[in-house]
Amino acid sequence: MSSSSIDSVLTETRSFAPPEEFARAARVRSLAEYEELYAKAERDPEAFWAEVAGELQWAKPWTRVLDWSLPDAKWFIGGRLNASVSCVDRHAQGARKNKAAILFEGEPGDTRVITYGQLHREVCRAANALTALGVKPGEFVAIYMPMIPEAAIAMLACARIGAPHTVVFGGFSAEALRDRIDDCQAKAVITADGGWRRGAVIPLKDNVDAAIDGTTVSKVVVVRRCNNDIAWKDGRDVWWHDIIDAASAKHEALAHDSEHPLFSLYTSGTTGKPKGILHSTGGYLTNAAYTSKLVFDLRDDDVFWCTADIGWVTGHSYVVYGPLANGATVLMYEGAPNAPRSSAFTSGHATGIGLDRFWDIIERWGVTVFYTAPTAIRAFMKWGDQHPAAHDLSSLRLLGSVGEPINPEAWMWYRKTIGGDRCPIVDTWWQTETGAIMISPLPGATPTKPGSATRPLPGIAVDVVNKDGQPVPAGSGGFLVIKRPWPSMLRTIWGDHERFTKTYFGEIDGVYFAGDGARRDEDGYYWIMGRVDDVINVAGHRLSTMEVESALVSHPKVAEAAVVGRPDEMKGQAIVAFVTPRSGFVADEILGKELREHVVKEIGALARPEEIRFAEALPKTRSGKIMRRLLREVASGSKARGDTTTLEDQGVLEKLAQSFDKEE
Ligand code: WTA
Repeated sequence: MSSSSIDSVLTETRSFAPPEEFARAARVRSLAEYEELYAKAERDPEAFWAEVAGELQWAKPWTRVLDWSLPDAKWFIGGRLNASVSCVDRHAQGARKNKAAILFEGEPGDTRVITYGQLHREVCRAANALTALGVKPGEFVAIYMPMIPEAAIAMLACARIGAPHTVVFGGFSAEALRDRIDDCQAKAVITADGGWRRGAVIPLKDNVDAAIDGTTVSKVVVVRRCNNDIAWKDGRDVWWHDIIDAASAKHEALAHDSEHPLFSLYTSGTTGKPKGILHSTGGYLTNAAYTSKLVFDLRDDDVFWCTADIGWVTGHSYVVYGPLANGATVLMYEGAPNAPRSSAFTSGHATGIGLDRFWDIIERWGVTVFYTAPTAIRAFMKWGDQHPAAHDLSSLRLLGSVGEPINPEAWMWYRKTIGGDRCPIVDTWWQTETGAIMISPLPGATPTKPGSATRPLPGIAVDVVNKDGQPVPAGSGGFLVIKRPWPSMLRTIWGDHERFTKTYFGEIDGVYFAGDGARRDEDGYYWIMGRVDDVINVAGHRLSTMEVESALVSHPKVAEAAVVGRPDEMKGQAIVAFVTPRSGFVADEILGKELREHVVKEIGALARPEEIRFAEALPKTRSGKIMRRLLREVASGSKARGDTTTLEDQGVLEKLAQSFDKEE
């Protein structure tokens, strides 16, 4: 987010009441009702959460709601359940048996509809197949897949047999996949031969082959998606369709302990090593289901489209677990927002260049609730209003935003151009660690202000405090914290409980530290100002500056590197790397290109630096710390000039550094 858009956020005063028609039919219909619900949860949080959790299907009821000994929370103690039963079986065995669970559209334009009844059989088959391959409860399974129904089926099958999954975004490189597999000691990988992205095949299986030698992985399950040539290792690799076809569609789901790990998902922190955020079964599913119902006001006839990839937490909570726990219909789209359908699937009609693909999908499938990221919204704005204008978007009734602060301009455009001034917008703040939405309007109840995530959900106790943990006055900036445990809070960082304690509960006494700066206004509305640590948010994707730095210094020609985020109009932030080459290597465009590609190889294209600037030396404090704040200013102060052999006039930089040194 650019500093100028932060300013405009801070001065934004417009407010929009929930549309009357929406409010009339909503679950929570007025601000007073929201406040009542909030107060009820505050009076007796455990009773409140017990009521919410009661909407899941439990095989054995819990004996105690919460066991809290900071920083460790256990929820619904003694309770047993199976997440896939709450998400699939109970709908498949009831009135929703023939209701669509997943509507799928591939990038080329191929489509599939999977009912709850069918989903149940597929999940059972996959659960049996994984067990037959030797996957045991408690063992991790890595999922490295395109956005196809098998990805959701694989997740639910893992949940069913109690094997926690770790989904790795298909845009991550082989190296990044290997790191994650090594960290959680995954026994199997579920992948595809490839996935479609802007007409090209993402070579997922090739990446798996490159990632798993010497790791704990003994089985690779491959979904046939693109029919591309892939290498095959007999005894290790099996086709998904072979093992699924051979498996029984009957599977008795065992009930797992409420605290049994459902999944770990790697996310970037402030160090070079991504951390495995571990989520529990009962607590996680409780919040995923609760927020889907309350924030998206899901009803039986909704078509809910959350555009996030299952590689991110948003895809976990709002493509798979949350909506399915509510028996909703979700739409899954495989490809890029700017890819046209192939003529093979459009009876030969020309489909243009694809800039209207999302609107085309909304029109054809009758999407009612649409949830996407500000980066995407800003791209749509830039592509032009003619694309949404060419489609009938009247099926939409609710819009959502997630992943980064949304600037008021984008919010207003979203409301008017996509929502026809008719749909409420829910700007939802949350994190991989929180598991589910924490701060958001309730669409029928909360008046919205463009750029604000508004108020915390009932049951969630947030605050804005200073370093000493003291609440700051209305209107002042501070650190966003959560004061009480909630069911879907992360349980640990896999394999590093100390880091968990230090990162989230070691910064400010007694509360969960989110790592975001925020301000609360006179109406109690929250305005998220972005990260206060070394995490950057590039196009809604979380990255750590240290992670990119580690990738850069692993290159033999690099002596030292420092990475900062620079405000970017489209992506929120762009990556700028300051690099000192080892002596003897020429700092030129060619090296710049080589280093960019090296980062892509180490992490993935999402981490490719926008700009590389070479410097003879990096500015440091007297104690030897790199002056990131100075670099951030240098990075945002002047326009990108491509690769330069010297960062700035080295003398100027030194002078700047001296003045900064006094301040730091
Ligand atoms: C940012 C994504 C402002 C924030 C669900 C947070 C937001 C990080 C919003 C988590 C929002 C997420 N407004 N900022 N509505 N939603 N963020 O773990 O900085 O990928 O800490 O989870 O994204 O990113 P993560």
